[in-house]
Amino acid sequence: MSSSPAAKFKNPRARYNFQGRTCSISGVGSYVPARILTNAEIEKKVDTSDEWITSRTGIKERHIAADDEFTSDLATHAARKAMQMASVTPEQIDLIITATITPDMPFPSTSCLVQQKLGARKAAAFDVEAACSGFIFGLEIAQQFIMSRTYDTVLVIGAEKLSSIVDWEDRNTCVLFGDGAGAAILQNRPNAHGLLTAVMGSDGEKSGLLFMPGGGSRCPATANSVQARMHFLRMEGKETFKSAVQAMQTAAEEALRRCEIDITKIKCVVPHQANRRIIDAVGERLGARPDQLFVNVDKYGNTSAASVAIALDEAVSSGRVQRGDLILLVVFGAGLTWGAAVIEW
Ligand code: ACO
Repeated sequence: MSSSPAAKFKNPRARYNFQGRTCSISGVGSYVPARILTNAEIEKKVDTSDEWITSRTGIKERHIAADDEFTSDLATHAARKAMQMASVTPEQIDLIITATITPDMPFPSTSCLVQQKLGARKAAAFDVEAACSGFIFGLEIAQQFIMSRTYDTVLVIGAEKLSSIVDWEDRNTCVLFGDGAGAAILQNRPNAHGLLTAVMGSDGEKSGLLFMPGGGSRCPATANSVQARMHFLRMEGKETFKSAVQAMQTAAEEALRRCEIDITKIKCVVPHQANRRIIDAVGERLGARPDQLFVNVDKYGNTSAASVAIALDEAVSSGRVQRGDLILLVVFGAGLTWGAAVIEW
């Protein structure tokens, strides 16, 4: 216990979950589809330029799923990699939580489809809808089940096929998004903490900043709704940008405060990858050094719920973080929703 870096810091769980078990992330994995869509190709679809996209967002390319490749397929690939790292068999999984705004279908849940594809017959399965914040919301839910001794092994996935809800005629949004999936296995591991704390927040007053008007009970699919392009996402970019920076800073500071640590103790900050300018602004406000920030938005664009899950996997697989290091995840998404988590890797 004394060798654990987190033992040096206050673990808020110890205060209010003193009867609970510790829970750690024993495996991570990610997957992106093979097809790469470059800025140069988007220049041919809408009135934009590589220079504008790069300078305003930091995005150079994104991955796009094939017509016959669905969110559950991306999720299953990422899950298999996380299971391999954790040495977990499908039969061991007690619960599957998939965070997504692009489920294969409104129902059944994408988690049920993943359960079938993995052959995880014992697992309960449901989805979480918190847009880009969904992976942190999923981690927190999973951890509660493990600490309460309800389940031993939980699979959390963030997976999106955003290309299916992007309006490829709208230059304001189509340059921003991509497809992909990331996953984590959470398990009880004695003397390892996993999530030291998770902050989650929401503000439904700002639901109009980023939404998809069609396809739900308010506006079911009709010939008119399709013609009015209501089955594509819509976003107020400038306002979303401002809200994102503020909410991510507030959430991250709250997570650090709860753990009674400052930013210098964090080995790697893994922010939601929506826009390089948002990442830099949040990093600056938190007082993080540029080399503490993990950035891969240039390769994938914004993959919503998959974003920090893919970034966390890449931070681990690239050797940026080692067992025992502290990681700060910080996210923001439609809802509005936001969150931050301090992880002892
Ligand atoms: N190519 C060229 N010009 C463009 C493009 C484009 N792709 N898109 C917009 N423009 C134009 C606009 O029309 C505008 O022109 P105008 O001045 O003649 O009206 C000009 O560029 C500037 O537009 P702004 O909106 O001021 O550009 P801004 O610097 O704010 O960047 C952006 C826009 C990239 C969308 C930015 O606001 C942003 O990143 N917002 C946050 C997005 C985000 O984080 N979303 C998270 C969602 S997470 C989830 O839950 C899915």
